[in-house]
Amino acid sequence: MDLPGVDPSVPSAARIYDYLLGGKDHFAADREAAEAVLKSVPNARQNARANRAFLSRAVRALVEAGVRQFLDLGAGLPTQENVHQVAQRAAPDSRVVYVDNDPVVLVHARALLANNPGTVVAPADLRDPVALLNHPTVQGHLDFTQPVGVLLLAILHFIPDDQEASRIVAELRHPLVPGSHLAISHGHPGELTGDLVEKGRELYGRTRQGAVVGRTRAEMAAWLEGLELLAPGIVPVQGWHPEDDFDPIPGPAEPGVFGMVARVPSREV
Ligand SMILES: C[S@@+](CC[C@H](N)C(=O)[O-])C[C@H]1O[C@@H](n2cnc3c(N)ncnc32)[C@H](O)[C@@H]1O
Repeated sequence: MDLPGVDPSVPSAARIYDYLLGGKDHFAADREAAEAVLKSVPNARQNARANRAFLSRAVRALVEAGVRQFLDLGAGLPTQENVHQVAQRAAPDSRVVYVDNDPVVLVHARALLANNPGTVVAPADLRDPVALLNHPTVQGHLDFTQPVGVLLLAILHFIPDDQEASRIVAELRHPLVPGSHLAISHGHPGELTGDLVEKGRELYGRTRQGAVVGRTRAEMAAWLEGLELLAPGIVPVQGWHPEDDFDPIPGPAEPGVFGMVARVPSREV
């Protein structure tokens, strides 16, 4: 693959994640970085898979709640059960905008989605939510007078500054009408020792994202002020409305991913 703006020697979070999920779209540098992640976080593969399973369950829950428009931020490389597949199976009229800032993701997403009239791909950066929301592709595909499901899955942990992360969530929430939902998943370090956390930081410091940070439940809860947090709350993704084939929930000391879904109420809660 020879793409402008892509240096295959620099690992990317999207391709490391693809490797962890058993995908095929990664370079040697990504595989090396992913293997280093696995050394520090041996359950990283299980967490990645459980995060994708959370995506499916959360999207289905949003469809059941009446949401037909999805804004998938940091969509990642297409894999099995992408948002439009899950949503359109339940409600064929569902529309999805996939957003990412990684050129490799954008090329693959466009190739996969070219034939689906309900889906589009927008190149945009999460760090500028106002520009992202005003992107012509986003505005052309979604009707913000109707509920929108905003998905922030395994992306906010690449925004290390707490104030910036809060600002991003607030700016994304701003235009959403009642009945809209936010679905968020985010890594936490469990009781990972300081040197392993530091290793992770160094490792992601060398990726094109440039950083990674784990956060606590309380830090994530602060983003949801004025929204209605749906049951079962902020929980390990494996424990968010698990189905028959559920994945084991990591122990509290193990690194993991928290998942949550919150609704924009008709009046501020
Ligand atoms: C770990 S993947 C998660 C993919 C998918 N959301 C999921 O949960 O399965 C993170 C994605 O976020 C994208 N990303 C990271 N920082 C971003 C930013 N500032 N703006 C847009 N996309 C970003 C990466 O390129 C990558 O595709």
